[in-house]
Amino acid sequence: AVVGEKNVFWQQTDVTREVRAEQKGQKPLTLWFTGLSGSGKSTLANEVEKRLVSLGYHTMLLDGDNVRLGLNQDLGFDENGRIENIRRIAEVAKLMNDAGLITLTSFISPFEQDRRKAQQIVGQSYIEIYISTPLDVCEKRDVKGLYQKARAQEIADFTGISSPYEEPKDPQIKIDTSNISLEEATDYIVKEVLKALVG
Ligand code: PPS
Repeated sequence: AVVGEKNVFWQQTDVTREVRAEQKGQKPLTLWFTGLSGSGKSTLANEVEKRLVSLGYHTMLLDGDNVRLGLNQDLGFDENGRIENIRRIAEVAKLMNDAGLITLTSFISPFEQDRRKAQQIVGQSYIEIYISTPLDVCEKRDVKGLYQKARAQEIADFTGISSPYEEPKDPQIKIDTSNISLEEATDYIVKEVLKALVG
């Protein structure tokens, strides 16, 4: 209804999503990584993308920090900022899928409702990958020193400390990086993703 009210109408293009995917010889997917800050999602998304590219797939990686420096620089970390962040990422992931690409997204995406909305926007190509490394391990790693700042109340609304992370209930892939190597974790995720790509 809103679209009609704005006098905006969906235009069918001649080169379709299917044609673009076929030309690339692949099935577009959105690999939606979620997990706490420091859980390993960006590192793993990066490794998985490298592996997929070396196998000949066409990919695009959208990473939290990077997208927040550009497209989403107007958004903060309060609830509304995170909701809009995830909505825009889902819409971009869908556009990338329309372009025939395998999209990897690496955002905390802490709210169940927003992940479900993302899944709805992206559609069937959505695969949720929960990096379930527990908070104490993430906090011990503290790669960016953000947990220390959050504990000192120098950062407001920090996920896991002063802002919630709702655990995914039914992710397609789940992995805890506490006690395994980066290579082992990458192997596991790639193996699962390849099942979806050829299936
Ligand atoms: S969200 O919740 O999905 O909108 O967050 P995301 O876009 O992934 O951004 C997370 C990265 O932003 C940095 N950062 C914070 N994270 C959580 N809470 C607060 N308050 C915050 N402020 C800045 C942080 O570097 C996150 O990066 P990762 O890679 O997750 O550690």
